[in-house]
Amino acid sequence: MTTKRAHAKYGADAVDGTSASLPSPFPRTMGPNCTTYLQEVVDSGLTSDMVGRFEYAFAEAMGVRHCIATPGCTPALAILAAAFDFDPGDEIIVSAITDYGTMQGLLSEHYIPAFADTIPGSVNVSADTIAPCITDRTRAILVVHLTGIVCDMDPILRLADQHNLVVYEDACQAVFSEYKGRYAGSMGVAGGFSFDSEKTMGSDVGGCVVTDDDELADRLRFVGQSRGGEMRPHFGREHTVLGYAHRMTQSTAAISLAQLEILRPQVAQRDRMIREITRLLSEIPGITPLPIPDYQDVYSCWMAGFSLDASAFRCDAESFSDQLSRKGVPGIGIGKYYLMPEGLTFLQEQAEREIYPFSTPPASRCHRYDATTCPTAHAFLESFIRWTSFCEKYEPGHCELVADIVRNVADANRV
Ligand SMILES: Cc1ncc(COP(=O)(O)O)c(C=O)c1O
Repeated sequence: MTTKRAHAKYGADAVDGTSASLPSPFPRTMGPNCTTYLQEVVDSGLTSDMVGRFEYAFAEAMGVRHCIATPGCTPALAILAAAFDFDPGDEIIVSAITDYGTMQGLLSEHYIPAFADTIPGSVNVSADTIAPCITDRTRAILVVHLTGIVCDMDPILRLADQHNLVVYEDACQAVFSEYKGRYAGSMGVAGGFSFDSEKTMGSDVGGCVVTDDDELADRLRFVGQSRGGEMRPHFGREHTVLGYAHRMTQSTAAISLAQLEILRPQVAQRDRMIREITRLLSEIPGITPLPIPDYQDVYSCWMAGFSLDASAFRCDAESFSDQLSRKGVPGIGIGKYYLMPEGLTFLQEQAEREIYPFSTPPASRCHRYDATTCPTAHAFLESFIRWTSFCEKYEPGHCELVADIVRNVADANRV
């Protein structure tokens, strides 16, 4: 008997209501050189080095030494987890609010996630929320710059330094966001990016790792892309470690290169428009838009969001967002599924039943995951509403329209 499941949706399928009066990222604006680059790949009979060209261009744009292109950020973070070579049962501190893609690689390597709570009123972690999670088994901190808001990195980097921990970044939602003049993804030892079709640099299904560390870059290519294969004289390919084949395709590289060429003005537009939406929404009683920290020079916003003051309205966040959707905000909904300790039910079960690596050893202690382990993040997401259709197509009139729609729904539901 087959079980009927409602499968998760991705890409254009995930953004409903595309005929609404507010813009949708789909159909995506494609860079003018897209067809030329794709044609080059075809004309060359797959001999063009389009992947190398994209990697060079992205690394240069980010001001880093290396870019390793992958088929998404999930595999980007997976090859990083594999390249770090920590031991099973070692702990990685990771934000409680993120996407599944942050988690898959570290879990496959049998590392144990320790979810850091978020700071009140925010979707991000800080040095203060990370510090209580540090144990003698902690090896790394994986920070996530959710929505495009950059975590306060200087105190996090100092804390990691004191405890000799690796810091790496999930910058999927924050391409070209800037923190005190530094790009998201360039501050830790490495950063992962997503270029899936929904993302700010929508390029179909792609991603990359960037790093300044020559040795790590070499290991990422060896473990993550060459399948751990080395050439042994008089024999051929010898697989000395369990490796992966997470390489970007030439055609995705062609699209990514063309999309990169139009990215900067798009990010600038997103930054301007989200600041305007934030200003307008903050004037509505009971509505609190995600705060933009003073240290953030550029907010490359992928997803817009605000929270409701539960005591101000008769309805909950889900009903509020349903009403916003009916009034024409595409891709709007609640964000509860971003709470990883609650959303990863297989992880709860593995930890509960002490299935490897939750057995001791290799774990050093018992681990439990549920909604209550990160109370601040849990409470925040109960009243949080987000829309992933926010994009560079917004103009000031759209910001006013979205604020009017939110104001109307808020007024209709006030206690
Ligand atoms: C924060 C975050 N991390 C990781 C991922 C996974 O990226 P990809 O879909 O490119 O594998 C996503 C995608 O939505 C994300 O938002």
